[in-house]
Amino acid sequence: MGKTERKRLMVMLGPPGAGKGTQAVNVAKRYSIPHISTGDIFRAAIKEGTDLGRKAKKYLDAGELVPDSVVTDIVAERISKDDCVGGFLLDGFPRTLPQAEALDKMLSDKGCPLTAVVDLAVDRDALVKRLTARRACSKCGENYNLVSKAPKKEGVCDKCGGALYQRDDDKRETIENRLSVYEKQTAPLIEYYKRSGRLVSASGEGPIDGVFKRICAALD
Ligand code: AP5
Ligand code: MG
Repeated sequence: MGKTERKRLMVMLGPPGAGKGTQAVNVAKRYSIPHISTGDIFRAAIKEGTDLGRKAKKYLDAGELVPDSVVTDIVAERISKDDCVGGFLLDGFPRTLPQAEALDKMLSDKGCPLTAVVDLAVDRDALVKRLTARRACSKCGENYNLVSKAPKKEGVCDKCGGALYQRDDDKRETIENRLSVYEKQTAPLIEYYKRSGRLVSASGEGPIDGVFKRICAALD
């Protein structure tokens, strides 16, 4: 099937720790589309010390959202790149109603509406456990979890040998704030997408490959 015949313009929605990043990597691979994580874009900018990184750091550290106008401009620019012609999977965007409306406007201007929004649901206690045990590779970005997906050697990435680190916003107090920010500002998007018939819900509980199978079945 040609890329223009069936564009997949998708969003991965869900609270912090639901497994958006973990699942998005595989979903994007399955449909041969780029995986675009706004959180990853901000973390890379912070690491590089760019203007964007300096602007975003205080929000990420506090578990607050970066202002809508900043995020929306970044996404608009990213999805206009050549690799997005056949579709894309957004992870962590949109996160507020103004962001969702801005995305709809961007896509309707291009004549290609969003095809599906995958909402991953996970119980709050499980989210806190997952986030406190999360580790990531400082070199290749691979995601680990001390409970559910431990590296073979402590502190070392199985894939590239890079050192594993804990995200600054995975501290207990920041996690609590991220979860309340999600409830207040992002959870209303579930209803927004349900109303327009674009919501695909999947339980994010249980083994990672089981969640992936449920997402694929729901999308197909
Ligand atoms: P972002 O990076 O998007 O963070 P988040 O939404 O808080 O989500 P996480 O990345 O923490 O969780 P995830 O759902 O990706 O789960 P993961 O797969 O890693 O955003 C960070 C910050 O950037 C925001 O707070 C904000 O400041 C800013 N930002 C980003 N986008 C923005 C926007 N649009 N507007 C404004 N600000 C924005 O999994 C978590 C852990 O669980 C891992 O260890 C994983 O291995 C494990 N795990 C995954 N699946 C399972 C499973 N099935 N069973 C057991 N463990 C599992
Ligand atoms: Mg993530």
